[in-house]
Amino acid sequence: MPASKAGGRQARPKITVVGAGNVGASVAQYAVEKELGDVVLVDVIEGIPQGKALDLAQAGPVHGYDSRLTGANTYDDTGDSDIVVITAGLARKPGMTRDDLLFKNAEIVGSVVEQVVARSVNAILVLVTNPLDAMVQLAWKKSGFAAQRVIGMAGILDSARFRTFIAQELDVSVENVTAFVLGGHGDTMVPLPRYSTVAGVPITELMSPERLQALVARTANGGAEIVSLLKSGSAYYAPAASAVEMVEAILKDKKKILPCAAYLDGQYGVKGLYVGVPVKLGRAGVEQIVEIKLTRDEQAAFDKSAAAVRELVDKLKL
Ligand SMILES: NC(=O)c1ccc[n+]([C@@H]2O[C@H](COP(=O)([O-])OP(=O)(O)OC[C@H]3O[C@@H](n4cnc5c(N)ncnc54)[C@H](O)[C@@H]3O)[C@@H](O)[C@H]2O)c1
Repeated sequence: MPASKAGGRQARPKITVVGAGNVGASVAQYAVEKELGDVVLVDVIEGIPQGKALDLAQAGPVHGYDSRLTGANTYDDTGDSDIVVITAGLARKPGMTRDDLLFKNAEIVGSVVEQVVARSVNAILVLVTNPLDAMVQLAWKKSGFAAQRVIGMAGILDSARFRTFIAQELDVSVENVTAFVLGGHGDTMVPLPRYSTVAGVPITELMSPERLQALVARTANGGAEIVSLLKSGSAYYAPAASAVEMVEAILKDKKKILPCAAYLDGQYGVKGLYVGVPVKLGRAGVEQIVEIKLTRDEQAAFDKSAAAVRELVDKLKL
């Protein structure tokens, strides 16, 4: 076969995933399984990104994907990435809060962002590393990028957890369940039951307030529940699937409404801070912040959540 017209030049979207641990490797896996682009996997541990990239490439013939996978310990291969998913950092151990990770991960994310943006000036950054809302604020500051090109993944995961529990409770397909979660990623997240539906019917009409409250509490504690079961790490399949939903919405310019950590400039009464809200995701990144009317109680819960994010961000003295 003669070489393609592209002459070996990258014709597919280029997705860099920094951190080849549990979340990063699963992001790479789901991204190539959906053939969203070629993937460069970067990690500081020698051999890990290379080994996982090679292993995933060898699943290609079985799964039927042609995406190219590269593993590296440097950023040389990441140039001109369309999207960079940042998962590098420490994960929670039992008894640790996401906030305990703040300073260590700030150091890691700061250096990753510097290296990434030096080589991919037009990329969109999708942050996964915890504590999520503070890390995305840091990445935005460090990158110098427009806020719409720096986005955090949390709300999709939080609402996927809520959707799972609702579907299990009512014995219906997860596909019929939509759920809405606002606020920061963490114990102060704000699930909105009245905007959460089963085939269009609000769940407030389908279960008792007590059961609903139990599901809301389980959702808010969703990450910790998995940490306590795994003992040596935190959740990664659902987090990776959620990050890949963002990658797909962006690369395919889907204009999909998804809950993400986005920069608020007055929306929801918050200025100059990344917090989880519904946004329209397309090729330009966050193309719109979707504002919904909140009740007084919901707004109060949202304000409390934003204040918790602000407190963490202040500690970073950005
Ligand atoms: N936003 C969310 O909803 C969400 C969900 C799950 C996990 N997380 C967070 O994602 C992060 C990753 O979780 P994980 O389970 O994959 O952890 P992990 O320990 O399996 O993987 C992290 C990887 O990052 C690498 N790394 C560390 N420093 C690096 C650096 N400077 N450059 C490149 N790579 C570096 C490590 O070597 C490791 O392979 C954690 O901070 C975790 O808390 C967030």
